[in-house]
Amino acid sequence: MSVRATPRYRGDLPVEVTSFVGRRRELSEARRLLGRTRLLTFVGAGGVGKTRLARRVAADLRRAFPDGVWLVDLAPLQDEELLAPTVAATLGLADWSVQPSLDSLVDFVSDKHLLIVLDNCEHLLDVCAALADGLLSAAANVRILVTSRQPLGVGGETVLDVPPMSLPAPDRPMSERHLDESEAVRLFMERAAEAVPDLALAEGDWEAVARLCRRLDGIPLAIELAAVRLRSLSIVQIIDRLDDRFGLLTRGSRTAMPRQQTLRATVEWSHDLCSPGERTLWARLSIFSGGFDLPAVEQVCGGDAIASEDIFELVAALVDKSLVRRDGARYRMLETIRQYGRMMLAESGEETTLGRRHRDHYQWVVMRSKEARFGPDQLRWYARLRLDHANIRAAMDFCLTEPGEAQTVFRMVTANWPYWIYYGILGEGLHWLSLALKKDSTPTAARAKALWVAGRLALLQSDLSGAELLLRDCADLAKKLGDPSAEAHAMELFGVAELFKGNYAEAISLQEEAVRRYRVIGEPPGACAVALYRMALAASASGRTDRAEAFCKESLAICENHGTHLYRPLALWALGFNEYRRGDLREAVATIGESLRLQRHSNDQWNTAQCVEVLAWIASAGGQHEHAATLLGAAHTLWRSLGTSMPRTPPFVDFHDPCDSHLHETLGDEAFAAAFQRGAILGPDEAIGYALNESPRRSRRTTRAPSALTSREQQVAGLVAQGMTNKEIAATLVIAQRTAEGHVEHILEKLGFASRAQIASWATKNSEAD
Ligand SMILES: Nc1ncnc2c1ncn2[C@@H]1O[C@H](COP(=O)(O)OP(=O)(O)O)[C@@H](O)[C@H]1O
Ligand SMILES: [Mg+2]
Repeated sequence: MSVRATPRYRGDLPVEVTSFVGRRRELSEARRLLGRTRLLTFVGAGGVGKTRLARRVAADLRRAFPDGVWLVDLAPLQDEELLAPTVAATLGLADWSVQPSLDSLVDFVSDKHLLIVLDNCEHLLDVCAALADGLLSAAANVRILVTSRQPLGVGGETVLDVPPMSLPAPDRPMSERHLDESEAVRLFMERAAEAVPDLALAEGDWEAVARLCRRLDGIPLAIELAAVRLRSLSIVQIIDRLDDRFGLLTRGSRTAMPRQQTLRATVEWSHDLCSPGERTLWARLSIFSGGFDLPAVEQVCGGDAIASEDIFELVAALVDKSLVRRDGARYRMLETIRQYGRMMLAESGEETTLGRRHRDHYQWVVMRSKEARFGPDQLRWYARLRLDHANIRAAMDFCLTEPGEAQTVFRMVTANWPYWIYYGILGEGLHWLSLALKKDSTPTAARAKALWVAGRLALLQSDLSGAELLLRDCADLAKKLGDPSAEAHAMELFGVAELFKGNYAEAISLQEEAVRRYRVIGEPPGACAVALYRMALAASASGRTDRAEAFCKESLAICENHGTHLYRPLALWALGFNEYRRGDLREAVATIGESLRLQRHSNDQWNTAQCVEVLAWIASAGGQHEHAATLLGAAHTLWRSLGTSMPRTPPFVDFHDPCDSHLHETLGDEAFAAAFQRGAILGPDEAIGYALNESPRRSRRTTRAPSALTSREQQVAGLVAQGMTNKEIAATLVIAQRTAEGHVEHILEKLGFASRAQIASWATKNSEAD
């Protein structure tokens, strides 16, 4: 996992791997509509180009959305309940809160200016409709772009029918010169050139290309599937074969064939042209969700009619035919193609067998990662699991439909429990555990572990009472089973509950006893490292700084000896907090700075938030009041993106509240608010940079703008400097012209200027200073 550089634009649009063709009319129509409506749905048959168009629109509009443009591919999502958590995770909102994830999501976006693309919603229409409704009614500056075969059907939705690509005019002779006039022809020629690099068309072939594109109704996917056939067939041969096939379907009457059927017939034709082995593999590959890698194909799809050693060749053949797409070291299928495969799989009667093999494979992957759980490869493994998250979900779904398999879900969730915490998907971990706990109450060690892992997740969501219920069940069961590991974990976690209640002495003694037992029974050292870090926190909070220091050192030594990268930043943070408690402010800044720097290499938003928070307390104690208020603002936003109420919980609240009141007193409410706001608008990377004093660019900008232009106004000022009219600014930012005028008026007022020229020269100077 590499460090994410501060992105120029926020968001997570994937790069386009093949060229994009045409669609100028649809693009400008979509932009125009998004200026007026907040929910725009691209509707059309599979393969017509909805997804591609939506991605392009989103990329073009990045500048208009300061809080980013975010794409959520819903094709692999089966479970409705995971829709809101999935969208939240994409937006960078971690799920550390006990409230329903739709509510957290609504809170989180309420003041944001962003565009969410929900791609492939057709199988989740009702929940998507509810989500869109919830988001749009709470957040005035959020827009949603949907792609779906059918509209969501909610109030305020604007539907744009995505047409097939434009075709050559039937009455005009076709030649290379007219290439640009038809999108379908251009797409065909681009894909043909990729398939056959030295392709040369004779004069007469142009007419055939035009006929072929008309034959395929201008459907991009059909065109792509036909173009790759040029490797072995001539254009005329392709047309002849399609003519035969379509003629058969419509008994000669061309007009009777709707677009879906054209695509369907083209897909079937591609299918018929595959070898038997390719066909079988195509069907079997449809068992994967959200892509797959080669080892998975070998494990899941080999055997019975496909020899393992042939797998690679067969995958390569499907890639050649554009039926499987390569995506770095992974592969995926377009949804339309996958669904066809799924149908073939059902017909073959292999569905359950394949489902079981798929489940076995991902169970094996998760179990293997367990060995690396607390070692140096831990984070690499997590990244690996995250790539296959959709497959892991599908495997667990499979288990929950099979009798007697809930125990497997226990194992899959708990084998690597820190995974759910690390990615901030605590709610999802709990979701799977509670489904499985309800389904199967057999008293096993797997269940006892599921109970304490669920308790741990609930605790971190600040759901103390829910956690204690689970832990009590766990302790009872562990006693019955004679399971010292589960008993010790329950004990540790009761200790954590005491910590969050502010009962520091109990917190220490419970966790201390748990650690002693971990050592006796040989639990992984990482488990001790985490407990020691929380013991240190409890000791520092209650003023026992010597003990706290000893706990920190012990925790650090474990991390050092076992290469546990994940917990080192936590132990350092605790050490820094303890130094602050002792009054060694300079040391504390250095130690927490080190924790924060290490943090950058990982995804642990929690520790980032607590580092920035403590740096604020330190700055306040050191008399840097304004700086402290800005750090508090940055920490506030970081906590918010975790959805947690932790700053309101001991021990944090014991220090947070006094710091907050002290700063209000010394700075006055107004100056406090201004400084706080400067921190609150920082993104996570910027917040780290600011906290580490590394971001002169940002801090200059924030100190230079006492006029307090909002980020939107700064954007508008920049566009004024580019010489844009209000109308052009409105179009660029997808806002009403009246709104653009309002922004310009505010800028004039705030900066005390009388003309646009003054704004322009001010904005230019400021951007040079950047
Ligand atoms: N404007 C375009 N330029 C290039 N390729 C396109 C374009 N529109 C669609 N395609 C290609 O056609 C195929 C189907 O498009 P897609 O957007 O996935 O359709 P849908 O979402 O409607 O099912 C994809 O391989 C896509 O890359
Ligand atoms: Mg699509």
